[in-house]
Amino acid sequence: MKIIAAQTKAEMNGKAADIFAKHISAKPDSVLGLATGETPRELYRSLIDRYEAGELDFSRITTFNLDEYVGLAPEHDQSYHYYMHDALFDQVNLAPERCHLPNGMAPDLDAECRAYEEQIEAAGGIDLQLLGIGVNGHIAFNEPGTPFDSTTHQVQLTPSTIEVNSQYFATPEEMPTTALTMGMKTIFEARRIVLVASGAQKADILRAAFFGPVTPEVPASILQQHNDVTLVVDEAAGTYI
Ligand code: PGA
Repeated sequence: MKIIAAQTKAEMNGKAADIFAKHISAKPDSVLGLATGETPRELYRSLIDRYEAGELDFSRITTFNLDEYVGLAPEHDQSYHYYMHDALFDQVNLAPERCHLPNGMAPDLDAECRAYEEQIEAAGGIDLQLLGIGVNGHIAFNEPGTPFDSTTHQVQLTPSTIEVNSQYFATPEEMPTTALTMGMKTIFEARRIVLVASGAQKADILRAAFFGPVTPEVPASILQQHNDVTLVVDEAAGTYI
């Protein structure tokens, strides 16, 4: 595992964006795994800036997002479809047909999960996966206890995740309590993984995930066994590592 320590969140996102920019330039038809959440917004902004400066071309890139809520329309401003269009897709020359998120409105959610796995496989697998980490150690919506061999599946969100994410909804009751998520195996199979974490609230879980036992109770701990993981942290998140 490689650790890149930045002082501020902006610097952290700049360093993570450097990794993505280099990767895209070296392999312009890369398959990228993308994440939502508060942490990576500036990273996407930095990639947009580089695109606008003529330094990056997304025209042959394929993307797969980690997760999506069940039952939120793509137009809902808290859906991950909305987030991705707002934060990246609509601002660069990504081909819409090559940008994928699980469809949380699908009539048959199990079939949707299977189809998502097949699409990832048909694209040749994920070259570079961006991850955040939840305060309970989740990666994507793989909550503590999720088996390491899981593929894309439907999940019941934990009270901890509901508490953290419901603040973004107009009323907490509006937040869905289920979601579709890439599984632990799906994520682990990415050839290269970059995990970004910012803020003091992530310091304890980063220590547990990367220096504690590898256990499904701390989903991110599996990353200790991956051969190409880069952790990019700001000073507050990196306090104990
Ligand atoms: P955050 O989410 O970037 O909003 O902290 C990370 C996560 O829960 O995976």
